[in-house]
Amino acid sequence: MDRRRLLSATFLSLLALCFISETEPASFKMVNKCRRTVWPGLLSGANSPPLPTTGFELKSGKSRTITIPKSWSGRIWARTLCTHHQNQTFSCVTGDCGSQKLECAGGGAAPPATLAEFTLNGAGGLDFYDVSLVDGYNLPMLVVPKGGRGGGCGATGCLVDLNGACPAELKVAREGRGGSVACKSACEAFGDPRYCCSEAYATPDTCFPSVYSLFFKHVCPRAYSYAYDDKTSTYTCGSADYVIIFCPAPYTSQKLLGSRKDGAALPLVNKTTMYIASRHPNGASASGVLQRHFTACAASILTAIFLFWPLIFPL
Ligand SMILES: *[C@@H]1O[C@H](CO)[C@@H](O)[C@H](O)[C@H]1NC(C)=O
Ligand SMILES: *[C@@H]1O[C@H](CO)[C@@H](O)[C@H](O)[C@H]1NC(C)=O
Repeated sequence: MDRRRLLSATFLSLLALCFISETEPASFKMVNKCRRTVWPGLLSGANSPPLPTTGFELKSGKSRTITIPKSWSGRIWARTLCTHHQNQTFSCVTGDCGSQKLECAGGGAAPPATLAEFTLNGAGGLDFYDVSLVDGYNLPMLVVPKGGRGGGCGATGCLVDLNGACPAELKVAREGRGGSVACKSACEAFGDPRYCCSEAYATPDTCFPSVYSLFFKHVCPRAYSYAYDDKTSTYTCGSADYVIIFCPAPYTSQKLLGSRKDGAALPLVNKTTMYIASRHPNGASASGVLQRHFTACAASILTAIFLFWPLIFPL
């Protein structure tokens, strides 16, 4: 047998293998940097493939990675101040999904809640994602794509704790306790179609930012602040994995964010409202996904060479 032909066939099929594994599902790593436990909730959009979990507990300092099917769309948020009641039900002060259980099982977040929204593998094969304060705010959140190609792959989110700074009319206090646990959207607080972009205001040409949406936008320039904020708030990345950090440090390092193409026009935090760490770009950090991918490929190539050794170089 022609040794060279065999060799090239082997390597071609390995190359194909490496290529195929590119279409593997995305991994979402959720990290809790809050001082307290949070309970992430996940809601799939209509016709979206089901997820391995729709809600779980995430203790302070812990992370959990879940596998997300390739064309999933939906929302991820964090419930706070949750309690397992003696009558076997479970409820949360913010972001409750109404399921009375740890798993949200198709229930969405009760506003106000900070939402991370995703459409994976959408138009042009790109993932679309944003962090939305349209339904209000309950904690700081950061979404960082890892290892994607195509699209700007910018990090987005709201890094500032707005519960204290929330305008009094929008503040949500915990029953019987001081302090604020969430910040409503003006739409939820007042129900005015002008704020909700509903009725006569249901188009981008008739619904404008309000003093309230501008409050959110000024502090968190990349987050969605009202329904038609999409020009500055939707991000794209091709076939990436995502890290979702609850309560990220406001000065989240350049290394984590890497050097990104889009979002450059908008700061992740407004420096006039918050100090942010040095602007010196560290250069893009090697992408974890690609590293993993090529490690896996190299491993399979080596295994194949080992297995086919007697064929390639017969004794
Ligand atoms: C269970 O207990 C909680 C807290 O006491 C209460 O709010 C909730 O309504 C109860 N649920 C049921 C189904 O009894
Ligand atoms: C930053 O905040 C200031 C004060 O609220 C505001 O005038 C400015 O427009 C904000 N910058 C951005 C990029 O949102």
